[in-house]
Amino acid sequence: MRTFSIPYTDGGESRILCGCNAFEEIAKTSGRCMVFTDTNVRALYGDKIAACLPDAPVFAMQAGEEHKNESTLFALLSAMAAAQLHRGDTLVCLGGGVAGDVGGLASALYMRGIGCVQVPTTLLSQVDSSVGGKTAIDFHGVKNLVGVFKQPERVLVDGAFLKTLPAREIRCGLGEIVKHAALDGALFDTLLANRNSLFDCDFLTAVVPDNIAIKADVVQKDPKERGLRKCLNLGHTTAHAFELCDGKLSHGEYVLAGILFEAELAKAHIACDKAYLGELQDLARFALGGMPAMISAREAASYAKLDKKNTQAAKIALTVPAERGKFALLELPYEVYCGELIRIQEELS
Ligand code: GLY
Repeated sequence: MRTFSIPYTDGGESRILCGCNAFEEIAKTSGRCMVFTDTNVRALYGDKIAACLPDAPVFAMQAGEEHKNESTLFALLSAMAAAQLHRGDTLVCLGGGVAGDVGGLASALYMRGIGCVQVPTTLLSQVDSSVGGKTAIDFHGVKNLVGVFKQPERVLVDGAFLKTLPAREIRCGLGEIVKHAALDGALFDTLLANRNSLFDCDFLTAVVPDNIAIKADVVQKDPKERGLRKCLNLGHTTAHAFELCDGKLSHGEYVLAGILFEAELAKAHIACDKAYLGELQDLARFALGGMPAMISAREAASYAKLDKKNTQAAKIALTVPAERGKFALLELPYEVYCGELIRIQEELS
């Protein structure tokens, strides 16, 4: 087992147990617990939840990003109030990124903050969303518009969950893994050398701790995204724009497409290593299984205007790959960004 700790700014630490038996660890949670999950995860693991926390109430949201909203958040808060949870109690969030984000936010809001344990069951949530304390719901058509930073007390990462994931879910996690590879040369080399094992469960289980190490290091240095943590948004401005405009693929698939497009933006707008960016694009394309049929680039670009990373209304803020292990921040006027998306879509299709 590998463990990582992320210190809180106000004392204490978030402990990430990587390679643990999640249900054994959940059973060690002190105080009363409530389990928050989704209907798919409850169908698979309901018996194990009941065995390790026999007295805990369980609240399951409908699975799916479209339910990452205020209705689900307030339904959960109602269930927490009905269960009479108190300050010293803990919300155990068992599921993928959606359950983790909504549950993390509810644990921050209820009584101004109760304990939170994240138990990520998807590849994406294991390598990214369960680590680092970002919580949110989508609101008014903008992804993650309403949320807070709240570090969970523990993150329990168990490779056994990956065995039940469909290939599509693996591809979704690969989006964030390729993003981390764009930030870390060693992981980039590992992925390139093992291209044919990218969908292999044992290979992925082996690289999950490396991904967590990369993310934990960034979050420790910049927990509230004042500077360095912006690197974790690499490819995401365009990914979120595609996701909001189209919505047919998974978040990670849009991240892979976002990396492909933003590497092309880097080639045109910053000093960079074009040969390396070509290799990164090949990796992203390989993980994606080819270029997906995409919606209108012009329409997608308009969604990027709403991105909360923009500091000026008329400019689009991007974190783009630049060289092996190096990223760059780029701001493009909206009209330039829109024209570039149209050009790149024509060239990549
Ligand atoms: N997923 C990006 C971050 O946690 O900052």
